[in-house]
Amino acid sequence: MKIGFLDSGIGGLTVMAEAIRRLPAQDYLFMADNLHVPYGTKSKEEVRAYILEAVETMVGEGMDALVVACNTATSIAVAELRTKYSFPIVGMEPAVKPAVEMNRKTGKRVLVFATPLTLQQPKYYALVSRVDDEGIVDSLPLPELVGYCEDLQFDKSIMSDYFYSKLADYDLDRYGMVVLGCTHYPFYKGLLREILPPHIQIIDGNVGTVKRLMALLSRVGMVGGVRSGSVRFMCTGNDSAYIEKIRTAFELISESNVLNEEIMN
Ligand code: DGL
Repeated sequence: MKIGFLDSGIGGLTVMAEAIRRLPAQDYLFMADNLHVPYGTKSKEEVRAYILEAVETMVGEGMDALVVACNTATSIAVAELRTKYSFPIVGMEPAVKPAVEMNRKTGKRVLVFATPLTLQQPKYYALVSRVDDEGIVDSLPLPELVGYCEDLQFDKSIMSDYFYSKLADYDLDRYGMVVLGCTHYPFYKGLLREILPPHIQIIDGNVGTVKRLMALLSRVGMVGGVRSGSVRFMCTGNDSAYIEKIRTAFELISESNVLNEEIMN
């Protein structure tokens, strides 16, 4: 069976790498909409059209299940995709619920990093108002971070300066948890671990998403097995330099220890 992963760019690799680790026997198709990255600073209407087009291309390649490996794309289009296609579709949302639950006893606040578009959507407001009964969640849009990631900008001093400037107005002693609400952001998890005070835990939605995928697939007996499947990378720009970038980023994230941290979501 072939599982498709869609993102605007390389961010979805952080989710797919986790899926491959847990579902090694499947075939994978990764689609990056590099023609239109970043989504998070564009309008909802634009992004919706891009997603529908990219998924149509993936459907043309054959796909048995789809993971919308992008919080922004999920908040814009997952409901519409589910009405349009009959294969299983797994979406993503910032891991606010587990963060609030894990933080409840500490009395500390939760800080959610995500794209501006994700944070503006009714889906996000609904999520926060459903789970944040004590009003402990704050949201911080990081409009530049996907661009840095797409440029493979992992220079420690440049990226530390960026995060310090974004966090300058926050008293981090008051926070117990940072939620990475965009699939690009786990590329910076190691750096954030160094920058943030040690009492702050960092959580993303990747493990939770892959567990939902596994639950869906286990119904059709697809879970388990040894690594035997293939991985194919595609991009909407159809450009070999970008495919090379995907490969580089995939190696980086597959080797990184962020995947080995079992987080409770
Ligand atoms: N990776 C996407 C997400 O999870 C966002 C990327 C973008 O802004 O293009 O939200």
